[in-house]
Amino acid sequence: MKITVVGSGYVGLVTGVCLAEMGHRVIGLDIDEDKVQQMRNGISPIYEPGIEEWMVRNVEAGRLLFTTDKEKAYTESDIVMVAVGTPQRPDGSADLSFIESVVMDLASYVNHNIILVIKSTVPVGTNHYVKSLIDRHLHHDVTVQMASNPEFLREGTAIKDCLEGDRIVLGAENQEVHDVLRSMYRPFGIPIYATDIRSAELIKYASNAFLATKISFINEIAAICEKVEANVDDVAEGMGKDKRIGPSFLRAGIGYGGSCFPKDTTALVQIAGDYDYPFRLLESVIQVNTKQQNLLVEKALKYIGHLEGLEVALLGLSFKPNTDDMREAPSIAIAHQLVRYGANIRAYDPVAVDKAKGILPSSISYKNTWESAVEGADIVFILTEWDEIKQLPLKKLPSLMKSPNVFDGRNCFSLVEAEEGKVNYYSIGRPNVLSGVKEVVL
Ligand code: UDX
Repeated sequence: MKITVVGSGYVGLVTGVCLAEMGHRVIGLDIDEDKVQQMRNGISPIYEPGIEEWMVRNVEAGRLLFTTDKEKAYTESDIVMVAVGTPQRPDGSADLSFIESVVMDLASYVNHNIILVIKSTVPVGTNHYVKSLIDRHLHHDVTVQMASNPEFLREGTAIKDCLEGDRIVLGAENQEVHDVLRSMYRPFGIPIYATDIRSAELIKYASNAFLATKISFINEIAAICEKVEANVDDVAEGMGKDKRIGPSFLRAGIGYGGSCFPKDTTALVQIAGDYDYPFRLLESVIQVNTKQQNLLVEKALKYIGHLEGLEVALLGLSFKPNTDDMREAPSIAIAHQLVRYGANIRAYDPVAVDKAKGILPSSISYKNTWESAVEGADIVFILTEWDEIKQLPLKKLPSLMKSPNVFDGRNCFSLVEAEEGKVNYYSIGRPNVLSGVKEVVL
């Protein structure tokens, strides 16, 4: 099939590459000339494991091309998928301006019947709003049929999630549209969940909100574990053995970040509020997540006593491993808190440093290795559970650091490893391990 994907972010680019991989002819449309030129030169604008190789392979096979030419993009495809951003507005609602500008462009160029698929995460009712915009501004006498096809990609595993997802959600206005999109996705071999458009739009928000709820729930349980001296990792594992609960998204830590959970939870509260329904549970999920981002500094002040003038090493800055994405990363709030308490910060991240430099306090010094980040430090904060960080030899820290104090926001190590590492180890929802050989006198 001939498909245009509008937007080359991690959703649009990954979706376009995977559709091409499955044999479709895909046009990737973006308004950013530099980004389009980068992709034509085989360079991915996003950090996503494997995407560059897949992109180049499909471009060379002639199944995938990138352009800024709107007329080409909207007249040479039968299906147009919109995967542009819907960022959060100050009041928390979703900003639809990028969707609107795509729709206005499409309405002026499209010259044959097409199916318009909204893949971006949009409030319930957006598809119908888009349809009304189209009907009002179409320049040619053609039919544009709508569908909602939300994505469930996780950064860092986006290709795998695209090709091996648990389900593909399709909301369409009629059976004909459902049938066309089913055949488009048939090569993926993933179960299709067909529903109406509004339900499909809500499935996306509800799914993300529920996953965020699981995370805030286990983070609350972690706080209780610290009071009753239980171990939240064991509690989560014991809970997860129940198939009704499941083991995933029960990792306690310093909270969720990223371009989706923070935005989508806030937007869903807004959407419910627009219909005079206070979504109290989700409001609490958001409040708990904000609280989590204060935890490590609170622990450091409690167990070390002060932060003024201390050397603090941050290990991991991105909102999760295997991405350079810093959007809403807990490291942002934590770095600002540390600066406010007078700490001197040095930081290491395998890939996110370039993006972090534009976001974190300018006083931070960045190091090329975790060793140089911890050398001479009084305190280590672990903020992202990169494999490299999870595998670092704790027992090297006492000789590298001024005093071996490790505050682990992602529970990367077992308590036994902390004991054997001879560090003072403070984590989330688990007992402290005070086996640092040096006096904690600072
Ligand atoms: C999420 C959804 O998983 C995905 O389906 C949706 O399409 C986009 O948003 P993403 O934000 O890329 O994907 O990453 P994810 O792996 O879901 O992690 C989100 C945040 O939750 C990260 O900050 C991560 O550290 C945190 N997290 C995740 C936890 O704190 N605990 C967990 O158990 C899982």
